[in-house]
Amino acid sequence: MAPRTTLTSHIDPARAAALEALQAVRTRDAYANLLLPKLLRDRQLTGRDAAFTTELVYGTLRGLGTYDAVIAACVDRSLDAVDPEVLDALRLGTHQLLAMDVPPHAAVSTTVELVRSVANEGASRFANAILRRVGQRDLSGWIDRIAPDPQDDPEGFLAASRSHPRWIVSAMWDSLQAHRGAQRAHQDIGELLDADNARPGVTLAVRPGLSEVAELTDLGALAARYSPYAAYLAGGDPGGLAPVREGRAGVQDEGSQLVATALATAPLQGPDEYWLDMCAGPGGKAALLAGLALERGASLLANEIAPHRAELVRRALRGYGDRLADEAVDEAGDAATDETADATQSTDVQPKPGTLQVIAADGIRAPWKAGSFDRVMLDAPCTGLGALRRRPEARWRRGPEDLDRLTRVQRRLLSSALDSVRPGGLVAYVTCSPHLEETRDVVRQVVKSRRDVARVDARPLLPGLPDLGGGPDVQLWPHLHGTDAMYLALLQRT
Ligand SMILES: C[S@@+](CC[C@H](N)C(=O)[O-])C[C@H]1O[C@@H](n2cnc3c(N)ncnc32)[C@H](O)[C@@H]1O
Repeated sequence: MAPRTTLTSHIDPARAAALEALQAVRTRDAYANLLLPKLLRDRQLTGRDAAFTTELVYGTLRGLGTYDAVIAACVDRSLDAVDPEVLDALRLGTHQLLAMDVPPHAAVSTTVELVRSVANEGASRFANAILRRVGQRDLSGWIDRIAPDPQDDPEGFLAASRSHPRWIVSAMWDSLQAHRGAQRAHQDIGELLDADNARPGVTLAVRPGLSEVAELTDLGALAARYSPYAAYLAGGDPGGLAPVREGRAGVQDEGSQLVATALATAPLQGPDEYWLDMCAGPGGKAALLAGLALERGASLLANEIAPHRAELVRRALRGYGDRLADEAVDEAGDAATDETADATQSTDVQPKPGTLQVIAADGIRAPWKAGSFDRVMLDAPCTGLGALRRRPEARWRRGPEDLDRLTRVQRRLLSSALDSVRPGGLVAYVTCSPHLEETRDVVRQVVKSRRDVARVDARPLLPGLPDLGGGPDVQLWPHLHGTDAMYLALLQRT
C-alpha cells in the first residue's frame, strides 16, 4: 500500500472510521466484516481510503495479541488501567508502525490526533510517548523482546509472535498432528498461523445451471484450482458483477464448495431424490447444493433454526426463480437446541421433487419424516476456528469453554441427521473448524453410539487436492489448500 500523507491539522477520516470500527467490535461485539461496508459507506470512504481503513481494522484486530504485548511493554501500568478508547487508538498506531507502509511520524501524529479527539490533552501526550517507544523497534525486534524462547515454550512463542490465543495454537497443533503426523505438524504450525493472518482473496461460486465459470473468467476472474464451480476475483467489488447481482453466482470459500460438491458427487445406491441441508444459514452451501440437486431432478430442503438466517438462505436461492417454493415454513417458534429437545418429533415437511424449499426449524427436532432423505448436509454450528482469516476478531471472542456447549449440539444434530437419512443414504458432517473435539471426536462418539453407520472415505471425492491425510475424513488447511480449514466426514446409514 502506498504511503499516506501526514494529517496533523484535522482528524483523518479513514483512521477515525477505523477507530469507530474497533470500538464497535469491543463494545458491541460487532463483526468487522459486517460492520465495515456500512461504515465506509456512511463515512463516504472509497478507493484508497476505504482500502486503508479496511487494512487498518483487519490488521489491527488480527495482530491484537502481539500489539497488546508490545504496548504493555511500553506502558508503566497494566493495560486494564488504560482508557479503552485510548488503547484502541494505540493499537491502530502500533499496527501502522509495525506492519504497514506508513511513515512513522505520520503513524504517531495521526494517532495522537485521534486520541485528542476522544480523550484529553494528557491522554494525547501519553499516546505520543507510548508510540515513540513502540517505534524504537521493528516487529521482529519486538517479538524477540516479548515472546518466550521458542525452545522452552514453543506454543507460547507462536501465540505471541503470530497473535493467536495459546489455546488455539494448541488446538491447531493437535489437529495438524492428528491429520499430518508429528513431524509435519511441527513444520506446518507456523505457516498455518501465518495463513490465518494473511488477507484471503475473494472466491466466487457459480450456481450450477445458472452460470458457468467461463462467465466469471470473461469478467476478469481466474478459474480456481480445485472447485469446478469456483473462480478467484483479483480485486474490485464482487457485488458489481452481473452474475452475483442477479443471484447466479455468489461469494463462497473454495473449501465450502469442495465439501458440498463431495456430498453431491458421492456414489449412492438407490434413489437420489431428496436432499436436506440441515443447518443452511446463510445459504452458501445450500445455493450450490440446490443447483446440483436440480440438475439431477432432485429436491433440496434447506433448514435453518434462526428465521432471519432462513431468510438469507431464501435470498441466496433467489436465482432459481420459481423452482424455489413460495411458502416460508416457520417451525422455529419453540425450537430448542438443549438436552430437552425432542429429536423424534416429526411433522410433514417434504419438498416436491425438483423443487427447493426453505424452512426455519430446529434440526434436532427434525420436523420431517425420519429416513426420508437420500443426502444430508450437516454444516454444524462450530467455533469457526477454520475461518480466522475472514473473521479477524473471532480468535479473541471464542474460548475453550465454548466447546462443551457446541459439541453437545453437534452430537445431537449429527444423530438427527443420521435419523433423517434413509438406509444407504449419505450424511456429510462438516465444520469450519479443525478442532479435534468438534470434528473427529464428535463423529467418533456418534458412530460408536449407533449400529447403523458406516464411514465413507471422503478423499476420492476431492479429486486433485494434495495432502488429504490418511482418511477417511478430510481436513482442509489454509496454508496447504488456500481454503478455510473445513472438515468433512462422510457417513452412510446402513
Ligand atoms: C456453520 S453455519 C452454516 C453455514 C451454511 N451451511 C452456509 O454454507 O452458508 C451453522 C448454522 O446452523 C444454524 N443452527 C444452529 N443450531 C441449529 C439447529 N439446532 N438446527 C438448525 N440450524 C441450526 C446456525 O444458526 C447457523 O446458521
